[in-house]
Amino acid sequence: MLSSRHWVAVIVIAGISVVVATIVQCKAPKAEPTFRNLGDSATYVGIQACKGCHSDKHATFLETGMGMSFHKAEKQYSKANFVRIKPVYDKKLDLYYFPYWQNESLYIQEFRLNGRDTIHNRREKITHIVGSGQHTNSHFWTDGEHLYQAPLTFYTQKGIWDLPPGYEEFNTRFNRKIDIECMSCHTGMPKTKDGSVNIFEKLPLGIDCERCHGPGSLHVQEKSNGIIVDTRKQTDWSIVNPKRLPWKLQVDICQRCHLQGNNVLKPGKKFTDFRPGMHLDSIFTVYMPTYKGDAAFVMAGHAERFQMSACFKSSNKGDLNKYNANINFTCINCHNPHVSVKKTNQDRFNQTCVSCHQPKTKKSKHEGCNLSAAMRGTRTCVNCHMPSSDTRDIPHVSIHDHYISKTNAINPSKPIDISKKYGQPTGLHAVNNPNPGTEELFQAYITYFEKFDANALYMKEAKRILSSVNGDNEPSLDVIGLEAQIHYLYNQQAFSDMIALWENGASEGQREALIGDAWTQYRMAVAYDKKSPTDLTEDKKQDAKAIQYYRNAYEAMPLNTDFLAEYTGTLAKALRTEEAKPLILQGLKHQPKHEQLLMNLGYCQYQEKQWKSAISTYEKALALNPESQAMLSLIDLYVAVGQKDKARVLYERAKKWADPKILRSWSF
Ligand code: HEC
Ligand code: HEC
Ligand code: HEC
Ligand code: HEC
Ligand code: HEC
Ligand code: HEC
Ligand code: HEC
Repeated sequence: MLSSRHWVAVIVIAGISVVVATIVQCKAPKAEPTFRNLGDSATYVGIQACKGCHSDKHATFLETGMGMSFHKAEKQYSKANFVRIKPVYDKKLDLYYFPYWQNESLYIQEFRLNGRDTIHNRREKITHIVGSGQHTNSHFWTDGEHLYQAPLTFYTQKGIWDLPPGYEEFNTRFNRKIDIECMSCHTGMPKTKDGSVNIFEKLPLGIDCERCHGPGSLHVQEKSNGIIVDTRKQTDWSIVNPKRLPWKLQVDICQRCHLQGNNVLKPGKKFTDFRPGMHLDSIFTVYMPTYKGDAAFVMAGHAERFQMSACFKSSNKGDLNKYNANINFTCINCHNPHVSVKKTNQDRFNQTCVSCHQPKTKKSKHEGCNLSAAMRGTRTCVNCHMPSSDTRDIPHVSIHDHYISKTNAINPSKPIDISKKYGQPTGLHAVNNPNPGTEELFQAYITYFEKFDANALYMKEAKRILSSVNGDNEPSLDVIGLEAQIHYLYNQQAFSDMIALWENGASEGQREALIGDAWTQYRMAVAYDKKSPTDLTEDKKQDAKAIQYYRNAYEAMPLNTDFLAEYTGTLAKALRTEEAKPLILQGLKHQPKHEQLLMNLGYCQYQEKQWKSAISTYEKALALNPESQAMLSLIDLYVAVGQKDKARVLYERAKKWADPKILRSWSF
C-alpha cells in the first residue's frame, strides 16, 4: 500500500516538473536548462547507488585517476616503492623521514640523528592515501579525529620518495590541516563537523559520479520507480548530463577542481555548494597570479591553460547558452571522464584536432598544420602542440600543457626552463569572472598574500584598492567591510590600527555581526594580546580583552583546537589555572598530540607545583617536536627535581636552536 502511494506521488511530481520544464522552454527557447537536482531537495547518494544500473561506467571509472583519487591507507592502494629505499633528509630542519609497513599498517617515521644517536623519533600511522599514483601518493594521518598531511610523498613518474610539494620550501612536518577546500577537490562530496576545520563527518573514498552529475537522489528514485525517459530524444531533467549543458557550464564543472588558485568564496557560500549546472562564479572566483613572461603552469591549472588557446576562444565565441560538439570546444571533446587517459587511444585526441583542422588542400573549417609531413615525422598533433612538461608547483611531476598554441609546438621536446620563465608576479586575475567586485578583489589579494606568497606586492595592491575606495578620507566600511579591513591590518601586523578601527571606526552593530566569525575574533585577540602582552607583573586586567576575544573565537569554532589552545594559553598565563585546566584536558581527549595544548597543561601543572606531572606532560610535547619550547621548561624542571644529568643533555641540544638569551640564565 505504502509503496504504491509513494509511486503515485512521485509520478505526479515528475509530471509537473516535465510540464514546467516544457513551458519554460516554449516561452523562452534560449533559457538555460534547469535540472531538478540543482535544488536542495536532491541529495547525494554515493557511487554505490549508481553501480547497479550503470555498471559499465562504474567499472571503467574506477580505473581513472579521479576514481582512485583517495583511499584508506591499505597496501593495495599504494603505488609506492618500499624496497631498498633510503630515508629522505630535510637539510633545513635536519630531519629524516622514512616510510614503512608494519602489520598491514603504513607508518611515516621522523627522526633526527646526533652522530649515531637517534635524538628524536616520532612515527605516525597513516590513515589515508591521496593521489591515485598517476603522479603521486601523498599521505594523511589522524590525531583523534583531526586530519593532517604527513610530510612524505611518493612521486611515481620518477619512482622516488621526497617531501610533499611545497614542503621543500617550508616543511610543516605533521601539522598541515586537511580542510574542506582541499578535500572538496579530491574526493566525493565531503562534510566537516560543525565548528571544526579538519574533522570530517563525511569523507567518501574517491571522486564519484555525483561530482559531475550532481546529487542523484531524485534520479535514483525515479528510475527505481520505472519513470524512464528516452534520452536519445529528450533530456532526463532528474540528473545532469554534462554534454547537455552549455559549453560555459561544462567547463565550470571541470574547473571547479582543475583550476587551483586562490578560491574566494562569495558571501555566505561554502565550497560544497557548487553543483554541476551552476555557474562557478556564483559560488567562488578563482584568482591566479600573472607573471612577467609567463610560460610555466601549475599542475591543477589545465582549465586555465586550455581556455587561453585560440582553439577554445575562437570556437566558443558565440552563444554562451549552447553546446554543439561540432562547433564548440570543451574538455569533453577530448576526454571521456569515465575512461582513464592511460587507457584512451591517442588517436582520440588527434582525431579531435583533425575534426576542426584539415590540411589546406581539403575543404576545411580551419587551416591545419603548416609544418610539412616530413618535418612532423612520427609525431602527432598532441606530441607537438600539447607537450608534457614540468609544472610550476609540483616537483618531480610532469603533465601536459593544455595551452594549444604555435609557440608551444616550436620546440616541444625541450622542457620549459622554469627558473627563466617563472618571473616576477605582477598581480592577480580572476580566471572565471571577468568583473569581480571591489571587496572580492581586495579579499583575493590579502588571502593570496597569506596563503600562497608573502610577497609585499599583494598587500600593496590591496592598499591601492583600499585607498582608491576611501580616498584620503577616514577608512570607510561601506565598500570594504569590517572583516576584510581587520584582516588586511592583521596581515600588516598593524595592531594599534586594528584596535582603533574596531573600537572607533566600527559601530556596535558591525562588531556584533562578526561575533560568530571565529577568525575576526581571533585576529582581534592577537591585536589586544600584542598591544598589551600578557605580563604577570602588570595589572592582569590588561589581559581581559585578549582572553575575551580568544574565547569568542573558540566558542565560534569549538572544535578548532588551535583556538582552544590560544584561549587556554592566555588563561593559564593569567594564572586562571582552574578555568584553563578542565578545558585543556577535554581538548586533549579529542586531540592528544596537540603540542601547544600539552604545553598549556604543563604550565598549569607547573603552577600547581605538580612537578612530576608537568615533566611527563612536557616530555610528551617534546616527543612531538625536537625543537619544542617544552625543552626549555624541562631543563628548569629537571634542575628543580635534582636530575641535572638530564637537564644537561637537553641543554646541549637546546644550544643548537634556542634563543641564547634564555640559555644564558642557566649555568652548569
Ligand atoms: C535504477 C536504475 C538507475 C540508477 C540507480 C541510476 N540510473 Fe542513471 N539512468 C538510468 C536509466 C534507465 C537511464 C536512461 C533513461 C532515463 O534517463 O530515464 C539513466 C540515465 C542517466 C544519465 C543520462 C541522462 C541524460 O539525460 O542523458 C545520467 C547522467 C545518469 N543516468 C547518471 C546516473 C548516476 C550518476 C547515478 C547514481 C547517482 C545513476 N544514474 C543511477 C537508470 C539508473
Ligand atoms: C571534484 C573535483 C573534480 C572534478 C569536478 C573534475 N575533476 Fe578531473 N581530476 C580531479 C583530480 C583530483 C584528479 C587527479 C586524481 C588523481 O590522479 O589522484 C583528476 C584527474 C583527471 C584526469 C586524469 C586522470 C585519468 O585517469 O584520466 C582527467 C583527464 C580529468 N580529471 C578530466 C576531468 C574533466 C574533463 C572534468 C569535467 C568534466 C573533470 N575532470 C572534473 C578532480 C576533479
Ligand atoms: C581546486 C581544487 C584543488 C584543491 C583545493 C587541491 N587540489 Fe590537489 N589536485 C587537484 C587536481 C585537479 C589535481 C590533478 C592534476 C592533474 O592530474 O594534472 C591535483 C593533484 C594533487 C595531487 C597529485 C595526485 C596525482 O597523483 O596525480 C596530490 C597528492 C594533491 N593534489 C594533494 C592536495 C592536497 C593535500 C590539497 C589540500 C591541502 C590539495 N591537493 C588541494 C585539485 C585540487
Ligand atoms: C569527471 C566528470 C564525470 C564523472 C566523475 C562521471 N561522469 Fe558520467 N558523464 C560525464 C560527461 C562529461 C558525460 C557526457 C559524455 C558524453 O556523452 O560526451 C557523462 C555521461 C554519463 C552518462 C550518460 C551518457 C551515456 O553514455 O550513457 C551516464 C549514464 C553517466 N555519465 C554515468 C556516470 C556514472 C555512473 C558515473 C560514476 C561511476 C559517472 N558518470 C561519473 C562526466 C562524468
Ligand atoms: C572545435 C574546433 C577545434 C579543435 C577541436 C581544435 N582546434 Fe585548433 N583552432 C581552432 C580555431 C577556431 C582556431 C583559431 C584559428 C582559426 O580560426 O583557424 C584554432 C587555432 C589553432 C592553432 C593556432 C594557435 C595560435 O596560437 O595561433 C593551433 C596551433 C591549433 N589550433 C592546433 C590545434 C591542435 C593541435 C588541436 C588538437 C589538440 C586543435 N587545434 C583542436 C579550432 C579547433
Ligand atoms: C585537445 C584535446 C584535449 C582537451 C580539449 C583537453 N585535454 Fe586534457 N589531455 C589531453 C591529452 C592529449 C592528455 C595526455 C594524455 C596522455 O597521458 O597520453 C591530457 C591529459 C589530461 C590530464 C592528465 C594529466 C596530464 O596533463 O597528463 C588531465 C587532468 C586533463 N587532461 C584535464 C583536462 C581538462 C580539465 C580539460 C578541460 C579544461 C582538458 N583536459 C581538455 C587532451 C585534451
Ligand atoms: C613536429 C611537430 C608538429 C606536429 C606533429 C604538428 N604540428 Fe602543428 N605546428 C607545429 C609548429 C612548429 C607550428 C608553427 C609553425 C609556424 O608558425 O610557422 C604549427 C602550426 C600549426 C597550426 C597553425 C597554423 C597557422 O598558420 O596558424 C595549426 C592549426 C596546427 N599546427 C595544427 C596541427 C594539427 C591538427 C596537427 C596534427 C594533425 C599538427 N599541427 C601536428 C608543429 C607541429
